[in-house]
Amino acid sequence: MGELLRIEHLSVTFSMYRDIFSRVESKGIEDLSISLYSGEILAIVGASGSGKSLLAHAIMDLLPYNAIVRGDFYYQGEYVDGKRLERLRGTELSLIPQSITYLDPTMKVGKQVIQEQFEMDQCKSIFAKLDLAEHVISLYPFQLSGGMARRVLVSTALISNASVIVADEPTPGMSVTDAVETLQMLRQIANEGKGCILITHDLDLAIEVADRVAVMYDGRIIDIVPASNFKRGVLTHPYTNALYRALPQNDFKSYTADEVESFLRKGGNQHVGSE
Ligand SMILES: Nc1ncnc2c1ncn2[C@@H]1O[C@H](COP(=O)(O)OP(=O)(O)OP(=O)(O)O)[C@@H](O)[C@H]1O
Ligand SMILES: [Mg+2]
Repeated sequence: MGELLRIEHLSVTFSMYRDIFSRVESKGIEDLSISLYSGEILAIVGASGSGKSLLAHAIMDLLPYNAIVRGDFYYQGEYVDGKRLERLRGTELSLIPQSITYLDPTMKVGKQVIQEQFEMDQCKSIFAKLDLAEHVISLYPFQLSGGMARRVLVSTALISNASVIVADEPTPGMSVTDAVETLQMLRQIANEGKGCILITHDLDLAIEVADRVAVMYDGRIIDIVPASNFKRGVLTHPYTNALYRALPQNDFKSYTADEVESFLRKGGNQHVGSE
């Protein structure tokens, strides 16, 4: 499998005013390295605030002005500088954002989804698969329900024909059927040789649809495992194992903060050097 995207030693810090005289830096992502290969869905799981969206936004170059980004990006083996990233965004890299506020409120849905006229047929077929009526094309975002807006965002990324889709929690608010359809479409895109980074809270779903699962904690990737290892019970990192055990269909076991700390100490950053 060819490497589509490689991120090396990414760190994201925020410079914020403590008071009018001094600034402090807070860390969002710390020394994160990961690759995405052609043909795969790479799931990123982790607790709220662990840095999943920051990672998505760093890849898309969408971080706010007060973010200080360090690290190197490679696309198909070639180093990507700021200018090149700008060109790749929207052509080779496409984001399904976590928040539906990314839709432009002043622009009709059709204009946001379809950049070129030839995409109309594809748009109609994706809309049909996602249960969106054709007339949605001529609606404004405020006329959509939350679940509809989310499906529109998914359509935008799918139509873009990008080689890398970064999907940041694409399914909340959707019906189960639409969520399954969305994930199947991502799977199909990956099977065509593209790559998908699927960010989700839902480990259960990640295990079902992804090829590999990366676990984030406090701005770092602490473990990367083949998705099949979960069901085979081959989990070497105690934190990943604890996440799995916490699923309702397993033990539903909950852990204290001290236990989590000890899992992290024991497991460390297990994937480092193993890729
Ligand atoms: N613009 C910002 N300025 C300062 N800190 C930020 C900013 N954006 C995010 N952060 C911080 O970075 C950390 C990671 O945020 P991020 O949005 O990536 O979390 P997440 O894993 O996507 O969470 P969720 O699952 O809730 O979407 C959080 O502690 C957040 O407070
Ligand atoms: Mg997020």
